[in-house]
Amino acid sequence: MMSMSPQRTVIRWSLRSVGLLACYGLAMAPALGAQSGSAIPGDPIAGGRMFVARQCVRCHSIWGNGGTLGPDFATVGAGRSLQQLAGMFWNHTPRMMETVRARGIDWPTFTETELADVISYIYYVKLFDEPGDPVLGERWFLEKQCMQCHSVGGEGGAVGPPLDGYARYVAPIALSQGMWNHGPSMQARQVADGIPMPTFVGREMADVQAYIRRTSNLRNREVVLLQPPNPNIGRELFSAKGCVRCHGPAGKGTRYGPNLLKATQQLKVSEIAGQLWNHSAKMAAAMRDRGITFPQFRGTEMADVIAFLYYLRFYETEGDAQIGAVLFAEKGCANCHTPVDGASIGPDLSKSQAVLTPLGLATAMWDHAPAMYDRMQSAEVEWPRFEGNEMRDLSVFLRSMARN
Ligand code: HEC
Ligand code: HEC
Ligand code: HEC
Ligand code: HEC
Repeated sequence: MMSMSPQRTVIRWSLRSVGLLACYGLAMAPALGAQSGSAIPGDPIAGGRMFVARQCVRCHSIWGNGGTLGPDFATVGAGRSLQQLAGMFWNHTPRMMETVRARGIDWPTFTETELADVISYIYYVKLFDEPGDPVLGERWFLEKQCMQCHSVGGEGGAVGPPLDGYARYVAPIALSQGMWNHGPSMQARQVADGIPMPTFVGREMADVQAYIRRTSNLRNREVVLLQPPNPNIGRELFSAKGCVRCHGPAGKGTRYGPNLLKATQQLKVSEIAGQLWNHSAKMAAAMRDRGITFPQFRGTEMADVIAFLYYLRFYETEGDAQIGAVLFAEKGCANCHTPVDGASIGPDLSKSQAVLTPLGLATAMWDHAPAMYDRMQSAEVEWPRFEGNEMRDLSVFLRSMARN
């Protein structure tokens, strides 16, 4: 039943090992982000290596691995977008400036790609949510009547195959993939037997997975480490599997399928896995109507697609230029960047190439921080901090100015 061997990798990825592996760059897949287009900026896997190379790990940790001066990224920064994280990163420039200067080290500059990678990594570590609760899982397994047709640990029905093999995985993504692939025939069987279609909310699917892990009679639970889920591959699969035909590029929605950014915005990875299943029957019907073959997933494919969906919220570019204009004045940027009689302390940003993309802005601000810092110090201006979506709105404003 479990012939899809690469799959086990993704799912076996335990909470702790990913922090460690990603931190220390072991057994990592080659950087794919750069090659596979630009819809998702940043390659989290390369970012993990940078996290070490640029010494972030001296002060920050992932799941307790690393320094303790700064926050642990497995516990802060949850679900924040690239621009929100860029704002948080900017806020602690003075602190880093002082540390770096005290040690006589050069200011670490980043290219846009590097900054994207490292921020993407901070976002990525939250992808691995906690395992479910096996006691609750047993309850769902009974209540949703899986037990009528499937056995685990020798107990349960024999209409469908035993599910013991899924105990190899920590996350419920393989389970979701198995259910998806067999969905149409399983659903036909449920209809025939008068069993209501099970759906999953919140952490229920993670709980069922934890129950299977606890109860399974699987003896051989070998550890195989291959690559972790990759949102950039997921993006390609989103096209290749035909999802894009109804959900549109970047999942923005068409008249055939809903906007997936909105639908997944608040969800953890294991919840997205449940959601895919919940909608699979209606989607199968919609695909029949449009003559699209119900796609099958192999190996790490479902994990990659889910990682892609999880990343949709990471790169939001729309914002409010008017709020941005107010922020430009309030944060003091205008004091140095608005030309008076043709001259200003800092460069005229309406002529800057850097502000044309959110990442360009974040990178330029970071790289110019030492010069800005010194001027602010001598002018006794407080270092501006960014909260919530402020960086996003500022970026939209600067872009609109630069284009005029
Ligand atoms: C010298 C120690 C030090 C180093 C090195 C360091 N940081 Fe920090 N970082 C901190 C401290 C302390 C805070 C929290 C207090 C603050 O905002 O100043 C922080 C906060 C952050 C935050 C905001 C987190 C939040 O919840 O507000 C981000 C993002 C961040 N760091 C990213 C990085 C990255 C990426 C690197 C590597 C390029 C790095 N830091 C290197 C000490 C450090
Ligand atoms: C009415 C009977 C029935 C119920 C109820 C049912 N299944 Fe199934 N299930 C099947 C059948 C039959 C198959 C095999 C379908 C096929 O051959 O394509 C299957 C296949 C599967 C597979 C793929 C197995 C493999 O070989 O990889 C998984 C995973 C699965 N079911 C999980 C569940 C879970 C979890 C529940 C409860 C939420 C559930 N099923 C409820 C009948 C059922
Ligand atoms: C034939 C059109 C079609 C295709 C192809 C398709 N979908 Fe859907 N999708 C839909 C429709 C219609 C819904 C809403 C179904 C419902 O209400 O249950 C939906 C719902 C969803 C949802 C839940 C959204 C919500 O509102 O909660 C997700 C997630 C999703 N699709 C992902 C995918 C992925 C991933 C693929 C590719 C493997 C895919 N879809 C392929 C039409 C499609
Ligand atoms: C105290 C004066 C001062 C303040 C306040 C200031 N800057 Fe600057 N800024 C500068 C100077 C000086 C430079 C050029 C630095 C250099 O050459 O390294 C610069 C450079 C930049 C650049 C790089 C432009 C390019 O094309 O390379 C950007 C982007 C930028 N600032 C954005 C901002 C934003 C956004 C704010 C408000 C949060 C801000 N600055 C506040 C003085 C300031």
